[in-house]
Amino acid sequence: MSTDPAIDSDLRQRPGLRIPRHLGVIMDGNGRWARARGKPRTEGHIAGVKALRRLVELCIRYGVGHLTVFSFSSENWTRPRDEVNFIFGLLRRFVASDLEKLVRNNVQVRIIGSRQGLDDSLQRLIAEVEAKTRANTGLQLVVAFNYGGKAEITEAVRAIARDVAAGRIAPDAITEATVEQALYTSGIPDPDIIIRTSGERRFSNFLLWQGAYSELIFVEENWPDFDETTFLRVLEEYAGRERRFGGIEAIT
Ligand code: IPE
Ligand code: IPE
Ligand code: MG
Repeated sequence: MSTDPAIDSDLRQRPGLRIPRHLGVIMDGNGRWARARGKPRTEGHIAGVKALRRLVELCIRYGVGHLTVFSFSSENWTRPRDEVNFIFGLLRRFVASDLEKLVRNNVQVRIIGSRQGLDDSLQRLIAEVEAKTRANTGLQLVVAFNYGGKAEITEAVRAIARDVAAGRIAPDAITEATVEQALYTSGIPDPDIIIRTSGERRFSNFLLWQGAYSELIFVEENWPDFDETTFLRVLEEYAGRERRFGGIEAIT
């Protein structure tokens, strides 16, 4: 019997829940999770990958359209070399072990972030994952890897400046849409929810532009402990939020 997840329409309709079109997650607290168990930080990152697998399955079953996960920030390079190497190795292992299943489950993968500092083999791997899943029409899994919101906006500004210098666009013709198209996330709707685990309450440079109107939900659990119960709590909390986007009435 296949255990592959599929959209479960009963779950989607569950009263009291609201399913976001796009869910963003700052997966934080792997190190603290490990420390609390007397284990090295690396064990926390391994457990974090398991939690990510669980969340991908939940998003498929509940019919979330896009899931963006923060897996390595442009500031995480300041960590000890061994930890950085371990996280990069984990990404490779995740692709090796999960790509086939992602393809089977109709998941489309996109990796956002700077390609600078990533070696050729990693860049090839990223291109391969994106190519092999490009035609998929189910959940879009966006992995923010070597990602920083300020770096993303800076790159976009550079690209637009090049267009201006080349006479392809006039400065006054630049709109919010021009900027959006120059971001890594071009074509992806803004996140409805941004979750941060581990009790921290900050963006840490995640989706600065795109998160302008996201509902922020902070959960106390460390990322490796994130499970269906936490997920449901988030969806319930989201259902209770009134989104006004600057107006005076809730927009659903
Ligand atoms: C999140 O967990 C994973 C990455 C940033 C790569 P941390 O490694 O930040 O864990 P804590 O915050 O130190 O507990
Ligand atoms: C944010 O977590 C980055 C990721 C989850 C990948 P950090 O642990 O790097 O953030 P700070 O340092 O606590 O702000
Ligand atoms: Mg952290």
